[in-house]
Amino acid sequence: MKRLYIGTNLKMYKNIRETCDYLAQLEALTRDLDRDEVCLFAIPSYTALHAASGVVSRGAIMLGAQNMHWEEKGQFTGEISPPMLQEIGIEIAEIGHSERRQLFGESAETVNKKVHAALRHGFTALICVGETAREKELGVADERLRIQVKIALHQVEEANLDRIWVAYEPVWAIGVQGIPAEPEYANEKHQVIRTVLKELFPQKGREVPILYGGSVHLANALSFISQPEVDGLFIGRFAWNAESFNELIRAVLLAWRTKTAIGKE
Ligand code: PGA
Repeated sequence: MKRLYIGTNLKMYKNIRETCDYLAQLEALTRDLDRDEVCLFAIPSYTALHAASGVVSRGAIMLGAQNMHWEEKGQFTGEISPPMLQEIGIEIAEIGHSERRQLFGESAETVNKKVHAALRHGFTALICVGETAREKELGVADERLRIQVKIALHQVEEANLDRIWVAYEPVWAIGVQGIPAEPEYANEKHQVIRTVLKELFPQKGREVPILYGGSVHLANALSFISQPEVDGLFIGRFAWNAESFNELIRAVLLAWRTKTAIGKE
C-alpha cells in the first residue's frame, strides 16, 4: 500500500510546554489512524525535542530536527550533531529548508553533506527544494530543482533511498507572505523532481515520497493531494493548532484514498 505523508515544521514558534501539549493533543486526536496508511511527523525546535520525544509514542508521530550539522563533534559553535539527535530518539533530519538556504546561507553542497550524515546515522533525510520567485519569473524553476536534487543526492547509494523524502516548497509560497502554488503547477514540479530521481536511481527513484509545502491550509489541501504526483503535505502555519491539523489530516486522507483507488483501476 502506498503511504500518505503529512507533517509539520514548527519553525521557531512553540516553546517546550506548547510543543508537548500540541503533540500530546495531536497524538490523542489521531490515535485511530492506521500508520501504515498515513505517516505523521512533526519537527519542533531544538530545545523542545528532548521533552517531545518523551511525550510522543514511537510510531504515532515521527519527530524530526529542523537542521543538523554533518560532523559528529568539533569546533562548531551553535551547531547540533547527528549523535546528539540520536541520543534523544529523533528519526528525521530536515535538510535545506528554504529559510535555512535564504537566511542562513545553506548551500547545495552543505545540504549534500548533511544528507550523507543523516543516512550514516540512521535518520530519514527530508530534503527541501524549491525555486525562488525570480527563478520562476526567469523560467528556470525546473533547472533550479534539478540542480538542488542532484547535488543533495550526490553519491547517495540507491540502497539508502528508502530513507530519503523530498519536499517541494517553492520559496515564494512559504510563510506569511507566501502565495500557495497552483496545484497543477505543483504537480508539474513534482514531475520534474520525480524525473531526476528516476534518472539518478533507476530502481527505487519512483518510490521516494515527494511532499508539497507552502501555504497549505484546509481549503487547498485536497486540491494538492488529488494531484497524481503529490505524495504528501509538509505544512507550517495551518498545522500548529492540533484540532485544525487533525481535521485537515482526515480530509486529506479521504481524498488520498479516492486518488489511490482510482490509480489502481
Ligand atoms: P507555511 O510553511 O505552510 O506556513 O507556508 C511551510 C513550510 O515552511 O514548510
